Amino acid sequence: MKHEVVEKNIGLMALLIVLVISGGFLVEIVPLFFLKEVNEPIAGLEPLTPLEMEGRDIYIREGCHVCHTQMIRPFRAETERYGHYSVAGEFVYDHPFLWGSKRTGPDLARVGGRYSDAWQRVHLYNPRDVVPESTMPSFPWLFERKVDADGITGKLEAYQTLGVPYTDEQIASAPDEIRGKYEIEALVAYLQQLGTVLSTKR
Ligand code: HEC
Repeated sequence: MKHEVVEKNIGLMALLIVLVISGGFLVEIVPLFFLKEVNEPIAGLEPLTPLEMEGRDIYIREGCHVCHTQMIRPFRAETERYGHYSVAGEFVYDHPFLWGSKRTGPDLARVGGRYSDAWQRVHLYNPRDVVPESTMPSFPWLFERKVDADGITGKLEAYQTLGVPYTDEQIASAPDEIRGKYEIEALVAYLQQLGTVLSTKR
């Protein structure tokens, strides 16, 4: 049997596996590098402000992405609840993506503007003050700690290297822009812009 020949010859099997995987890569992945709607930002997309960028880092540090996705799938059950489904062009400035994979809490891809800043602050201080049945942890230390103003320059420079259009002036003025701000202000600023570029109609 021909199949037996492959199964008994590990070199041949390895070669065939490599062939199959490269074929898949060519057909599935390579075309994405050339698709405009995957590579180009959607109209109106701006890089995060320095304060929002700090908020994004706090979001990662506190593990918000472990319980929350930022990816609305194109199904009616999702779009009715969260709003317009996510499109690739919304994420071209995200490094790394925070799509997540598990929804212990709701998707946050379009949470920007859904609640007031005040609601967000109370909720993050102690979620059960506004949602009694909530299992989300409290994050009271965000109200005491200040953002790392001097660390922002290196971060923005790294994003600039990756192709995010920050100007040198924006980077130079970033530390002064966020100095003295509390972490909670940064995180709420980050949350309030999530998904707002594309229609927020719900
Ligand atoms: C252990 C899992 C868990 C973690 C970690 C977590 N959350 Fe949540 N989150 C939830 C759950 C469950 C809810 C739904 C109940 C509620 O509103 O409190 C929720 C709700 C929310 C909502 C309201 C969403 C909506 O549409 O009503 C926001 C905003 C939010 N979380 C932000 C955050 C942020 C920011 C962090 C990180 C600082 C975070 N969460 C960390 C579980 C989590």
